[in-house]
Amino acid sequence: MSITVGVDLGARSYDIHVGRGLLERGGALAAPLLGEKRVFLVTDEVVAPLHAARLEAGFAAAGIAVNRIVLPAGEQTKTWSELGRLLDRLLDLRPERRSVLVALGGGVVGDITGLAASLLLRGVDFIQAPTTLLAQVDSAVGGKTAVDAPQGKNLIGSFHQPRLVLCDLDALATLPHRELAAGYAEVVKYGLLGDAAFFEWCEAHAAALLAGDDGARAHAVAESCRAKARIVGADEREAGQRALLNLGHTFAHAFETAAGYGDALLHGEAVGFGMCLAFDLSVELGLCPPEDAARVRRHVAAVGLPTGLPQGEWRIDRLLALMAQDKKARGGLTFILARGIGDAFVAHDVPAEPVRRLLAAIGAS
Ligand code: GLY
Repeated sequence: MSITVGVDLGARSYDIHVGRGLLERGGALAAPLLGEKRVFLVTDEVVAPLHAARLEAGFAAAGIAVNRIVLPAGEQTKTWSELGRLLDRLLDLRPERRSVLVALGGGVVGDITGLAASLLLRGVDFIQAPTTLLAQVDSAVGGKTAVDAPQGKNLIGSFHQPRLVLCDLDALATLPHRELAAGYAEVVKYGLLGDAAFFEWCEAHAAALLAGDDGARAHAVAESCRAKARIVGADEREAGQRALLNLGHTFAHAFETAAGYGDALLHGEAVGFGMCLAFDLSVELGLCPPEDAARVRRHVAAVGLPTGLPQGEWRIDRLLALMAQDKKARGGLTFILARGIGDAFVAHDVPAEPVRRLLAAIGAS
């Protein structure tokens, strides 16, 4: 049993499948999309031993050969030089225009594989098989691909939609709790940005979801994908409302870049804390009731996500400079702010002073 969510983008439309056992069924689901009887599977050294065999068995059963490429795990893999190495390895396997890549892993594997797919032979198709909650509810859907640059996160990339997304809930069973909680931040995001009733559902069901309840996981992943599909269907290339998906991300990307993309702060953890700060900033600017910001922070803390910065040297000027360089920025500082829970909007030219005060209040100097 799986739930199917459609992403409606005309000729580039595709289905997202959410359910159990989808890696095993991947070959059968992908077969109608393939132009040749082989795929190029890109995964990482952590995910490969956990999940690659199930996916490969499904492809073998459908008569499709798999060429496996294993990348180093972690955000440090999302670089221009790793992208070059990946493209070299793919070219050595003599791909054709009709070849298809399959990204099996979390956001890092999905982002770099998608970017490689958009560049290889001027663009080949790819399939997303996300194995983390974060990738299932956000990064595997919507066609954003990227690698990081020293100047900032995701600054080199393309829009290249996958042909199919397989969100296998079984993959979440092997996810460390910290990563599950980090991915959950992106689930909460959909409630906070545009759906107060979904945020209430999150408050009521987060504990069950994190403890392993399949029904709660299926609902959270499917609802998140529906919300994202709606937004991407209306604004694929982020001319307007897609930027709402960046709630919390102006803060988050600056913290991650300043921290060097290491393990001290996972992307989802930075987003969870960044959303608290986006609501605090909205309160500070007189836009949002303080009770809503307090409720957001309570929920983020309740699921075990950080509500403060990890130990380290956090420099206000550096963080502000990074925020000014965010992809959404148009010269000044751009944030996704909120009038309340479920009512976010894009704010350009936000004054630096309240942001500076907020950063000082969380220990930056
Ligand atoms: N993760 C934000 C977006 O896909 O637009």
